[in-house]
Amino acid sequence: MSNLQAHAPIGVFDSGVGGLSVLVAIRRALPQESLIYVADSAHIPYGERSPEYIDARVKAMAEFLLAQGVKAIVIACNTATVVAVQNLRTWCPVPVVAIEPAIKPAAQQTRSGVVGVIGTSRTLASPNVARLCATYGANVDIRLQACPGLVEMVEDGALMADATRALLTSYLKPMLDAGADTLVLGCTHYPFLRELIGEIVGPGVQLIDPADAVARELVRRLGDDRVQGNETDAGGESFYATGLPERAEAMISMLWGKPVKVIAAG
Ligand code: DGL
Repeated sequence: MSNLQAHAPIGVFDSGVGGLSVLVAIRRALPQESLIYVADSAHIPYGERSPEYIDARVKAMAEFLLAQGVKAIVIACNTATVVAVQNLRTWCPVPVVAIEPAIKPAAQQTRSGVVGVIGTSRTLASPNVARLCATYGANVDIRLQACPGLVEMVEDGALMADATRALLTSYLKPMLDAGADTLVLGCTHYPFLRELIGEIVGPGVQLIDPADAVARELVRRLGDDRVQGNETDAGGESFYATGLPERAEAMISMLWGKPVKVIAAG
């Protein structure tokens, strides 16, 4: 890749604001890169959609990012990964880095031998997760819990609301009762519920979020095609949404931690 392309942006997408939890890790790992984030907010939640629908949305998101001239694409969505990454990699001309539930490290780190995994219905019913459980679950009791409704609560900014606490408690209690000491956050929206989840599960349960591992994999895949030069040059971010930009703007600004402008992605 030429040095010109090394200055091309990196594209990151999710169905909504969840992928910002991955974008934070990417920004930490790559302070000089330009980042483009797209929230497919007109089509959220992916987790309750058919595989055909998700596949078509992933194609649309990738095409949008490629039209912006990105040099790599990060699927910051477990649901989109398990359904569509294979297809995407057959035609996408730039490296694709993706995220899936961190069952391997959780199975290696548990002391009680019971691991909880929370994610969308679509993710947890996927062959990818079945394969991860079969590979790493020989001596570990892996308990999968789909969490319909949680993504919407994060999208509404209800990060500490009573209704969110009640729903989360109903999902987490059976795992805690079974002795889970390790909990995989298998949806990129859930790290924004870390504080509330921590209050519910207590300090004895370790939360596993693979965002930093995804950022490291991106660094590895970029290799020399990274912005070279002055370490103090901070890269910028551009934000897009397929739904109402005003709505996305409020939530993205809150979760990103500073006011941002969101542009309609068409
Ligand atoms: N953030 C997405 C994930 O990691 C799911 C959100 C959705 O259901 O749209 O799975």
